[in-house]
Amino acid sequence: MISIKGLSKKFGDLTVLHDIDLEIDKGEFVVLLGASGCGKSTLLNLIAGFEQATEGEVAVNGKPVTDVDPQSGMVFQQYALFPWLSVIDNVAFGLKLRGMNKKERHEQAKKYVDMVGLTSFADAYPKALSGGMRQRVAIARVLANDTDVILLDEPFAALDAMTRQVLQEQLVEIYEKSGKTIVFITHSIDEALLLATRIIILGAKPGRIVTDIRNDLPHPRNASVQLSSHYTKLKADIWDVVQEEVMKSLESKS
Ligand SMILES: Nc1ncnc2c1ncn2[C@@H]1O[C@H](COP(=O)(O)OP(=O)(O)O)[C@@H](O)[C@H]1O
Ligand SMILES: [Mg+2]
Repeated sequence: MISIKGLSKKFGDLTVLHDIDLEIDKGEFVVLLGASGCGKSTLLNLIAGFEQATEGEVAVNGKPVTDVDPQSGMVFQQYALFPWLSVIDNVAFGLKLRGMNKKERHEQAKKYVDMVGLTSFADAYPKALSGGMRQRVAIARVLANDTDVILLDEPFAALDAMTRQVLQEQLVEIYEKSGKTIVFITHSIDEALLLATRIIILGAKPGRIVTDIRNDLPHPRNASVQLSSHYTKLKADIWDVVQEEVMKSLESKS
């Protein structure tokens, strides 16, 4: 579904990503994990087509990504909703662009508004919603657009711990139902272990893949997977790798 070959990205003299090779299959839930500044958002922006590679290539569904790619939908850390549109119209926005008539797109959008538990807020405006609710709207919108690939850049980072946990479990459920291909960024190991079928740890300076592991914790997943000894073992293994990378990046800063 996503094929990345020999990808490097520079901003001026700064090499942010170096020689990345990565193949992501349809239906995988890949979490990119890494310290701040290691190039996670840049990699996601390259997949979405918001940025272009300096070297190498990115293809989605066999098509090289050379511009903003309609095959992918993005959810950002800060809810990028249209403040002048109601919840339902925010969710239906992409369907409108595709020329769907009002009745049809509202029917379609309502399905996803219901799915994220915002039925009674369908006609509310973003300013009336909490942060967690706004992120649910952003997720509903990306689902309504029905893209093959869904990209999420630290979508829950700005939320309180309890809201985050509820949304994580909802996202797992949606993933289990929809079978979408998802790439999700976080720097939380627990979040990665709850969500991912595959965890890719990026190292810094320049950004590159350090470890690529399968997360075989059983589905359906919810917070109770954290109680298993297998979870503890996976977490410790990941922590070893992450810690080493963080230490390296601290050393290179001092
Ligand atoms: N548009 C840009 N122009 C110049 N430098 C950038 C740009 N975007 C990101 N960078 C730099 O690239 C590096 C990686 O950034 P980013 O991909 O946002 O990292 P992460 O998401 O892992 O925190 C950082 O050093 C950042 O300052
Ligand atoms: Mg980032």
